[in-house]
Amino acid sequence: MRVLGIETTCDETAAAVVRLRPEGGGEILSDEVMSQIAAHAAYGGVVPEIAARAHIDAIDHLVARALKRAKLEVKDLDGIAAAAGPGLIGGVLVGLMTGKGLALAARKPFVAVNHLEAHALTARLTDNVAFPYLLLLASGGHTQILGVRGVGDFDRLGTTMDDAIGEAFDKTAKMLGLPYPGGPAIEASARAGDPTRFALPRPLLGRPNADFSLSGLKTATRLAAESVAPLRPQDIADLCASFQAAVVDVIEDRMRVGLKLFQERAGAPHALVIAGGVAANGAIREALARFCAQAGIRLVAPPQNLCTDNGAMIAWAGIERLRLGLKDDLGVAARPRWPLDPKVERSLNGKA
Ligand code: KG4
Ligand code: ZN
Repeated sequence: MRVLGIETTCDETAAAVVRLRPEGGGEILSDEVMSQIAAHAAYGGVVPEIAARAHIDAIDHLVARALKRAKLEVKDLDGIAAAAGPGLIGGVLVGLMTGKGLALAARKPFVAVNHLEAHALTARLTDNVAFPYLLLLASGGHTQILGVRGVGDFDRLGTTMDDAIGEAFDKTAKMLGLPYPGGPAIEASARAGDPTRFALPRPLLGRPNADFSLSGLKTATRLAAESVAPLRPQDIADLCASFQAAVVDVIEDRMRVGLKLFQERAGAPHALVIAGGVAANGAIREALARFCAQAGIRLVAPPQNLCTDNGAMIAWAGIERLRLGLKDDLGVAARPRWPLDPKVERSLNGKA
């Protein structure tokens, strides 16, 4: 089975072709990504209108290149998958309409993929992880701890009550005068910093649910910065190190609770999987590796290019659905909000 995947929900335009391996897992035949970071950097965040226009300019070209690199034509595909949300509606429409158009013209099955499900299932593409598993999904727009029980079968164990983790990195970086995206900038600066210089709060530490709250930490970092202004490079490094150390402590504590909730509901997970751009952070990865070693759980961290937004994860989610006989009508709508767990009416941060 070979499926084309299209991703346009945020600031990456992406198209990829993935093949289902007979033994399970996927083979990425092509994986084209065009990042719009440069177009948004001056604004310190993603500008929806700029994103949508950039997707329109790039998408046809990227799809053609993905097919060419895979040495396939549309007629050779077994299906076409496009992310239908959650995300910035203008961008989502670009990818969704492109996918529908191709599917209609070539008479191929179409799958409207939930972008979060695609992140969540990536560990099965790369490592063929069996259900159920525990997932930390942390990006610029989403922060969730999920029990992944099957395709389309998710149990949300925790979410953020305010900022997403990546968003907290981005906003803190902006406040300290560091470039966008803030995560890599803070991580780099933190390497030269003292994580104990500023005593920053660890919000919700020890709470019995697995939720996050990051906005208080962001504010505390701002107040700490104001207390030593004007900032010298060493102050910035110390602030970054102190902020990152607080985030790491919070994630470790929240995962401990998430694992406990998972075990109560579903027994032992086959793995702890991390996904989303924040999973690129070395200090967070190290903390989760320690946590998993202590808990006796396998840690699965897909390679960085598959943690951030990409087309291969959309193609793979399409494969997972098509092989269960799940496909979508071409009338399917774009969804700016689309929670994975139907018992969650809408996420508290309004992002999913
Ligand atoms: O998944 P992603 O590429 O896009 C979405 O938000 O969907 O994630 C981007 C987010 C940004 O907020 C960025 O600052 C954060 O991931 N990020 C990091 C690191 N690399 C990227 N956060 C912390 N440390 C990093 N090394
Ligand atoms: Zn994403």
